Amino acid sequence: MRSILVTGGSGFIGSNFLHFVLARRPDWRIVNLDSLSYSGNRENHAGLEGDPRFRFVHGDINDRALVDELMRECEAVVHFAAESHVDRSILDPRPFIETNVLGTQTLLESLRRAGGRRFLHVSTDEVYGSLPLGDPESRFSEETPLNPHSPYSASKAASDMIALSYQHTFGLDVLVTRCSNNFGPYQFPEKVIPLFVTNLIDGEPVPLYGDGLNVRDWLHVEDHCEALLAVLERGKGGRVYNIGGSNERSNLELTHLVLDIMGRGREMIRPVADRPGHDRRYAIDARRIRSELGWAPSRSAWPQALAATIQWYVDNERWWRRIKSGEYRTYYALQYGAR
Ligand code: NAD
Ligand code: TYD
Repeated sequence: MRSILVTGGSGFIGSNFLHFVLARRPDWRIVNLDSLSYSGNRENHAGLEGDPRFRFVHGDINDRALVDELMRECEAVVHFAAESHVDRSILDPRPFIETNVLGTQTLLESLRRAGGRRFLHVSTDEVYGSLPLGDPESRFSEETPLNPHSPYSASKAASDMIALSYQHTFGLDVLVTRCSNNFGPYQFPEKVIPLFVTNLIDGEPVPLYGDGLNVRDWLHVEDHCEALLAVLERGKGGRVYNIGGSNERSNLELTHLVLDIMGRGREMIRPVADRPGHDRRYAIDARRIRSELGWAPSRSAWPQALAATIQWYVDNERWWRRIKSGEYRTYYALQYGAR
């Protein structure tokens, strides 16, 4: 039996990873350490709570004693826990430094004390900065210099470099993945797709930033999970792997498609002031993971995969309606009220 420590497994990608791995690796045991921040939700893994192979631990990755205890029980760590939303990092960067930078370093120190464990650091293509719109052939490769622009991406870039420094200096078995934008079930409705879909279900307009021409490279979350499993099992220590689906869409194109699938008109678009420092385009060159590990996306086919994701939010209204109350309302008013 392999035992894995997952951090941030109550969030969007982490919870999908728990379901994905436990369904495919019957002899694995997973401990999920999550502080249940605003984006963490125990309901995301409610179906696993009776499974003897799964354990949830409510705690912070900055809790050194707790992390040490859990580290002793596991053979590998998959590290998702993070503050993950660019707009929140613009409102208040501090928690991004505390969790993404210091939290990652706390885990790495514990890994160093325990020795002999593999550490997969889950990162983002946003660490590379932004590509121009006029050069469609340009993409981020693993050799592209890091040039993060938001407090979120800067904190992730810092944690990537710290993780790799522990590999280089202390000989730890560290790997870093950098993935493009994910979509799928259980995504917190502050991110563009679930935000727009749930607003439309409620008959509310969708706030589109700036000219809507910013481009993102959309990958289904299960394709991301499959890539992470491949890297965890077969990746080469010390290496960075980019993950992306070559599925570039402008926000305007995405918004039109969401509106069409949901049978709503263009009048539901509310153009709002742009995000400060808004990265123009992300695009991933995923040749390394494709050729070394034989990974390729199989679930991201557009527009069917988007339609299935929209249907998930339609079918799981109870899940997001509970979230879109309380703290979320305060955030929404702060973020969009005067825009
Ligand atoms: P999310 O916000 O949905 O989930 C983050 C989880 O981490 C939550 O469950 C939260 O409670 C937990 N957490 C936060 N601070 C913690 C702390 N101090 N201690 C313990 N747990 C804590 O984020 P997500 O979209 O699932 O992203 C997961 C990871 O994947 C992040 O590292 C993010 O940078 C990376 N990533 C995300 C995307 C994307 O499109 N969402 C793309 C590429 C990479
Ligand atoms: P988001 O889901 O926040 O992901 P990221 O900023 O990490 O790529 O945003 C995706 C794109 O959608 C991004 O270009 C910003 C844009 N966007 C809007 O136009 N309106 C919104 O309300 C949000 C949240 C995002």
